[in-house]
Amino acid sequence: MEIKLAKTAGFCFGVKRAVETVYKEAEKNNETIYTFGPIIHNEQVVEDLEKNGVFVVNTVEELKALKEGTTVIVRSHGVGKEVYDLMEECGLHVVDATCPFVKKIHRIVERESNAGKRIIIIGNDKHPEVEGIKGWVNGKATVIETADEALAFTAENNEQLCIVSQTTFNYNKFQDLVEIIREKGYDVESINTICNATEERQTEAKLIAGTVDSMIVIGGSHSSNTQKLFEICKKECEDTYYIQTLDDLDMESLKGKEIVGITAGASTPNNIIEEVQKHVRIKF
Ligand code: F3S
Repeated sequence: MEIKLAKTAGFCFGVKRAVETVYKEAEKNNETIYTFGPIIHNEQVVEDLEKNGVFVVNTVEELKALKEGTTVIVRSHGVGKEVYDLMEECGLHVVDATCPFVKKIHRIVERESNAGKRIIIIGNDKHPEVEGIKGWVNGKATVIETADEALAFTAENNEQLCIVSQTTFNYNKFQDLVEIIREKGYDVESINTICNATEERQTEAKLIAGTVDSMIVIGGSHSSNTQKLFEICKKECEDTYYIQTLDDLDMESLKGKEIVGITAGASTPNNIIEEVQKHVRIKF
């Protein structure tokens, strides 16, 4: 059997970097360390980290309650300036694993808002990444996610607008929303800050699924990007399986297949992908 493993399966660059940072810090520290929010949404990884002395704090109140000198890791989504200030005030040891692509957005909105521009963030207002970006804006930031919100948006007279995007937003949708705002006649500068990692993973999955007999998609059951990957693959290859770990894979279903493709969602650790790949290879 031939196995086609997607190169883009699993962690993107920023998440990989953040997870590696946490494991490195856990090795260095004998004391309990913390991440501000879960480093990734994957139960196996969070459990494994707990065994290595890494726990999650979710709120600013919990941060305030930590002992001076405690190590806190900022995850790839990043956080607002006020959170860094607070951590400094509390004497915490901060290890910053914010993805450099997200950091770039922080620098843009800080610079442009300091220059007097009104910042518009295209994205989901409740997403932690957007929360963090808002926290670098000097003045008010507006978050727009839908065409209705873009249509309803009004700027004040002579206001200059700077539009950025959440890194995982859909490019075409971003362009459409910018266009709606631009058509209102405002002075608009739009900066495309979308990261290609998600799109590249989807494009590769589609290509592979189109050439195999069966396709395996690995990822958490609540992972929306894995769900999306599964839908994309299923359209190309009827025989597509969604599994969380090797235990979910029904080997019988792969019997007699000549080519099998494997991809995985953004929060699937490499060891799970490798385990599935090795197992399929050994079996057939
Ligand atoms: Fe990942 Fe960073 Fe892009 S976290 S999705 S590489 S913005």
